[in-house]
Amino acid sequence: MQTYIEDLVRHIGMEVTVKGWLYKKRSSGKICFLLVRDGTGIVQSVLARGEVADPVFDAACRLTQESSLIVKGSVRKDDRAPGGCEIVVQDLLVLQTAQDYPITPKEHSIEFLFPLRHLWLRSKKQNAVLRIRHELIKACRDFFDNQGFINADTPILTPASVEGTTTLFPVDYYGEKVYLTQSGQLYNEATIGALGKVYCFGPTFRAEKSKTRRHLTEFWMLEPEVAFLELDGVMDLAEDMTVYVVGRILENRRPELETLERDIMKLQSVKKPFPRITYQEAVDIIREKDKEFTPGDDFGAPHETIISENFDRPVFVHHYPAGIKAFYMKRDPADDTLSLSVDMIGPEGVGELIGGGQREDDHDVLLKRIKDNKLPVEAYQWYLDLRKYGTCPHGGFGLGIERTIAWICGIKHVRETIPFPRMLERVYP
Ligand code: 4AD
Ligand code: MG
Repeated sequence: MQTYIEDLVRHIGMEVTVKGWLYKKRSSGKICFLLVRDGTGIVQSVLARGEVADPVFDAACRLTQESSLIVKGSVRKDDRAPGGCEIVVQDLLVLQTAQDYPITPKEHSIEFLFPLRHLWLRSKKQNAVLRIRHELIKACRDFFDNQGFINADTPILTPASVEGTTTLFPVDYYGEKVYLTQSGQLYNEATIGALGKVYCFGPTFRAEKSKTRRHLTEFWMLEPEVAFLELDGVMDLAEDMTVYVVGRILENRRPELETLERDIMKLQSVKKPFPRITYQEAVDIIREKDKEFTPGDDFGAPHETIISENFDRPVFVHHYPAGIKAFYMKRDPADDTLSLSVDMIGPEGVGELIGGGQREDDHDVLLKRIKDNKLPVEAYQWYLDLRKYGTCPHGGFGLGIERTIAWICGIKHVRETIPFPRMLERVYP
């Protein structure tokens, strides 16, 4: 029977079989230390000449990095070892000897590592990031599930744009042009009519033309949507979710954060309440540092960084000018030039983690917006229908999973937060 390395501490003094790969090796004439990994952890496995059969000892000494193997031995407590124990090897079976594994233990450049992403994922830090990604996604789902939200997934092939027509990926659909989805939001607005509060979680696509450390062309978004929820409620929901998921990662993924050398204190300050400032207040903060910024413009990465420098936790910026936000945003009844939109800007210069707000719920106003934005009305007929049959105030948001992981892990670039990133110049492997 196979024992996973993460479970070894519960097998002290017992005989186990571990199946995995050779991570590193150290040997002298008499003793050989194998660092074996199996995806759940790394364990030191020790062989001494004379205590195992000579062919076994010799095979261990010849092992190469990333060879696959099966180790049999007894588990010995060792407080200095990473998992609190090591294996005293009795027998070893080499399944395949790996030749010239390209990612040697020394430092490598990103240019070297990315074409080897399929192998690079085996390294300690990449492993830690993917475990945190898993925890984040599970925590997001748990947060919404615990509050009675229903997961209603939305289509990936869509006839219309959500977030502007300049970043659409067209797909030939039996001779008709459709697009890869930019967001599930419009469909969420339909499913709330059936289910009240919903979320979708899936890949979203944007043909981003710029190369930045925050943009992927394929990224994952968690999007809740709630009937009868207004702008303040959207911020409450985003705040509660963020506090919950960061708390879960601090609780369950501390070793991974340590592997990444993440400053834990920075995450511990993510507590309620998050500051809530208007677009205008954000502009005032930016203009103190950057006089060139023109009020009314959208924020770029440097502006979001300036805003975040003023706070030790995420900050909500709401009431953006309507002109720089999507067609579906509801206007502020008190000032028609402003939208009931909100972005959550993450700390430490990570940029916008969440975008959302309250949706336009009036049929005729929405129709006008669609026309003003030169969008094809036919493609939005069903969306307009939602305003004809029991319209109500409603809102929601989208959390970018990769940017959130980058923030939590303290990684500069989103390309390392997803197993196989898709970017302007990268679709391999
Ligand atoms: O602000 P965005 O464009 O909002 C929407 O798509 C809404 N329809 C969501 C909603 O209200 N249901 O995108 C939401 C988030 C951003 O805040 C960002 O975290 C992430 O998605 N995001 C990207 N992440 C990586 N690469 C990109 N190209 C991204 N574009 C947006
Ligand atoms: Mg946005």
